[in-house]
Amino acid sequence: MLKLPTKQNPTSLKSSTAQTSDENTTKGQKSVIVKLENVRKTYANGSVGLRDVNIEIYKGDFKFITGHSGSGKSTLLKLLYGAEQATDGDVIVNGSNLNGLKGNNLAMLRRKIGIVFQDYKLVPRRTVSENIAFVLMAQGYTYKEIQRRVQPALKMVGLMHKADCFPEELSGGEQQRTSIARAIVNTPPLVLADEPTGNLDPDNAWQVIKILKKLNSFGVTVLLTTHDEQLVRAANHPVLHLQNGYIV
Ligand SMILES: Nc1ncnc2c1ncn2[C@@H]1O[C@H](COP(=O)(O)OP(=O)(O)OP(=O)(O)O)[C@@H](O)[C@H]1O
Ligand SMILES: [Mg+2]
Repeated sequence: MLKLPTKQNPTSLKSSTAQTSDENTTKGQKSVIVKLENVRKTYANGSVGLRDVNIEIYKGDFKFITGHSGSGKSTLLKLLYGAEQATDGDVIVNGSNLNGLKGNNLAMLRRKIGIVFQDYKLVPRRTVSENIAFVLMAQGYTYKEIQRRVQPALKMVGLMHKADCFPEELSGGEQQRTSIARAIVNTPPLVLADEPTGNLDPDNAWQVIKILKKLNSFGVTVLLTTHDEQLVRAANHPVLHLQNGYIV
């Protein structure tokens, strides 16, 4: 079992993500990181997830995706990380068209996307550090590089003191912060969060938003679905609103 030291590493996540921020401008103009063109998603049973969606998201944006249950929020994120394929239209993420992207090519693209779910999806028999390190191990990072990256990620989410705890020893808020650390440990330029605050009380929800805001201030693009209108108002970022599969 992997054991990672809890001593703080001088490498800061900020310095490693700042590079992303510098890449945000092309000749002074923001570049597009996510583009959907005439996208329609119809599931096998005939349910429609998205209808004729056209969106451009720029590097460094922080956007909320809102809408009633069933309006297509999760469908939109699933298309972006390749868990579902569009029925029609083009989905372009970080320069790659996801149409027909499979196997290794899809895996390579996913390395550039951090994903956060409502239900955390932590591995129960792994410590916080190990849950975070696991992503890097799967991608073939060296032990040294893993050590170099895990500590700043833990620090970013304020969980240095919980590094050796198991998920069941954590509060919901701490579990969600662990899952955020896991999502950002390989410093992806894009973070997709599907109802990340859905199981949290207002204080913990706001902590999650603050962490994502901080990441965004380093240049990371954040797309976050939520039902929480109060949170959207407080966070003060632009909103994409979905209704019955349409952006409205
Ligand atoms: N795997 C699936 N198979 C069939 N239909 C699906 C599937 N996933 C979603 N849908 C349908 O697609 C539509 C959009 O669902 P989606 O999960 O994107 O909504 P949502 O906005 O995320 O809702 P919620 O707020 O409840 O999470 C719904 O009508 C839903 O029933
Ligand atoms: Mg959903």
